[in-house]
Amino acid sequence: MDQSKIWKGNWTFVLAAAGAAVGLGNIWKFPYLAGESGGGAFVIVYLLCILFLGLPIMIAEIYIGRYGRKSPINSVRKIISDYGLNKFWLILGWLGALAGLLILSYYSVIAGIAASYIFSSIPHTELNPAEYSVEYYSNFKNSPLLMIFWHSLFIGVTCYVVGKGVVDGIGKAINILMPILFFLVIVLCIYSSLTGEFIKTLSFLFNPDFSKITPGVVITAMGQAFFTLSIGMGSIMAYGAYMPQEQMIGKTVLIVIFLDTLVALLAGFTIFPIVFSNPELSAFVGKGLLFESLPVAFHSMPLGSIFHSVFFILVSIAALSSSVSLIEPFTAWIEEERIFSRLNGVIILGVIAWLIGLGTVFSDNIWAEYEIYGMNFFEVIAILTDQFMLPLGGLLICLLVGFCIPKIDLEREIDLSRNLSNIFNICLKFVAPVSVLLIFGYALS
Ligand code: TRP
Repeated sequence: MDQSKIWKGNWTFVLAAAGAAVGLGNIWKFPYLAGESGGGAFVIVYLLCILFLGLPIMIAEIYIGRYGRKSPINSVRKIISDYGLNKFWLILGWLGALAGLLILSYYSVIAGIAASYIFSSIPHTELNPAEYSVEYYSNFKNSPLLMIFWHSLFIGVTCYVVGKGVVDGIGKAINILMPILFFLVIVLCIYSSLTGEFIKTLSFLFNPDFSKITPGVVITAMGQAFFTLSIGMGSIMAYGAYMPQEQMIGKTVLIVIFLDTLVALLAGFTIFPIVFSNPELSAFVGKGLLFESLPVAFHSMPLGSIFHSVFFILVSIAALSSSVSLIEPFTAWIEEERIFSRLNGVIILGVIAWLIGLGTVFSDNIWAEYEIYGMNFFEVIAILTDQFMLPLGGLLICLLVGFCIPKIDLEREIDLSRNLSNIFNICLKFVAPVSVLLIFGYALS
């Protein structure tokens, strides 16, 4: 790789990886899945998955990317040729490229809704804000044209940024905006915990009712752990290619995972206190949870409509810094292989994701009746990617790095003390793969 492409300083990688990780997964998806799955039981399994699967897999993904210094498909190819491995491992790159497109297809629809919310705070004069908010969201999702407009806009901006190159395109913006987002989420969380049902939220999220641990809850929690950390499909691997050689992988991963988990929990402590203090709102509404509940909190805040807009601007930006990482790996490969220019490549991929995304738009309105095993189009894509493709990708990454690369080579690259390095090895070889397989088996049971 051209040395000038490697990021300078340690901070750029941390911000880019945190930018990829922190997004709708934390602010939109974590609260709604926790709500649907009954809270504490889900949260416990989720946190365990972050620790035992997320941590080792993220380290292994960065290792592959930094070793290969190419797009994920070609970094895996380099490992195959350097270590004389079977071509089978290439499936890892292709599975990831496909998962990225599928995730982007619906990610962009939801991010589009978030962007449209910049302009739709609840009017001051409204006497029943919760009812208004529920109705507003329902009208919005019943309008396919409006949703397509915002979906197109979001995917267009994503492709534009990726077309310009991830570092120049977005690196600088992330530097300023991520800290503001953190700050605002903390302020919001304090406000809503003080004015809403904080204690109920605490017990909802952290007092697990173990009888609620079902195969469905466990696999949802595992899928969410992969999704929120952006692992299992090559996003983090693609960024690993730009990581400076001397940067410590272990420490960096700890920071990224800590920030990601913090934002998800803060989002939970922002949304649930409001939900529990408004009888019109429910924790079980599914993917509309964020859009129905937060505007109600802003309505009661001083300068609420300004906070409302700023918040949704920041969510849209957090979503953008994640969505670029979904399409970057595939685009980088197209550019490397000189199949098309970066810009043309990303346009083609964007159009494909846009088309698939129409299915998610329609699953709320004109296709609402169509279901496969009780799931609409959006749910099928979300479950296929989170609960199947990402964990499978993660499993392959563990096996590739754990069993096909000699331990001394790993130790040279991954700066862990001897003890930690042994724990990492055990997690990578046994704990993580066995857990994924057990959870797959449990879900099918
Ligand atoms: N983690 C991001 C979020 O929480 C979404 C995302 C970006 C992602 N890249 C990914 C999810 C790769 C899975 C795989 O919003």
